[in-house]
Amino acid sequence: MEIIICPDADSASLSAADQVASLLHSKPTAVLGLATGGTPLALYSEIIRKYQKHQINFSQASSFNLDEYIGLAPGHPASYQSFMQENLFRHINMPAESVHIPDGLAVDVPSHCLAYENSIREAGGIDLQILGIGTDGHIGFNEPTSSLASRTRIKTLTERTRSDNARFFHSMEEVPHHVITMGIGTIMESRAISLLAFGESKARAVADMVEGPITSSVPASILQMHPTVRVFLDEPAAALLSRRDYYRHVFARKPSWQKW
Ligand code: F6R
Repeated sequence: MEIIICPDADSASLSAADQVASLLHSKPTAVLGLATGGTPLALYSEIIRKYQKHQINFSQASSFNLDEYIGLAPGHPASYQSFMQENLFRHINMPAESVHIPDGLAVDVPSHCLAYENSIREAGGIDLQILGIGTDGHIGFNEPTSSLASRTRIKTLTERTRSDNARFFHSMEEVPHHVITMGIGTIMESRAISLLAFGESKARAVADMVEGPITSSVPASILQMHPTVRVFLDEPAAALLSRRDYYRHVFARKPSWQKW
């Protein structure tokens, strides 16, 4: 894992956006894996800014989102479909047919999940997966004890995750219990992964992910087994890393030929 400790969330998001831009320059048909939640908001704003300045073009790109709440119609304000339209897609030129988000109203959820996996495969696989991390160490909505080999499927949220996400709803009761999420095996097949984590509330999960044992109790710890993971942190999220001085040392001495 490459650990990038930035002074704040904005500078970390800028670096992550530069990486997306560099991928699209070298591969205009890139397939992006996208996340929702509070963490990627500044990244998406920066991507929009680059698009408006003609520094990035999505006309041949495509995307697959990690997850969606079951039972929320696409137009529901808290659905991830609405989130993505509002915070990214309505501002950029990715063709609507190239955007993929699990359908929270799918009648046959297992068939829908299988079809989602097939679409990722048919698109050639994900080039760059953007991830956040839950305070409990989840990635996507693969909650602790999820199979580390899991594929896209239905999951039941922990009460901790429901309470973390209640801020997007009018009340805790409105937060769905079930989601469709890409599996950990699905995420691990991405060619590169960028995980962003900001704020003190993520410090424990980040330290467990980077320096703890690989365990399904901390689903993000499986990323230690992926060859191309970049972790963009602000100072508070990096606070519990025991080797943070070493990560800074490595980053400061990164050879100039070593590209994103
Ligand atoms: C969202 C997702 C989740 C979030 C995580 C952190 O699509 O897959 O894993 O990344 O719950 O959420 P925030 O960013 O709101 O702290």
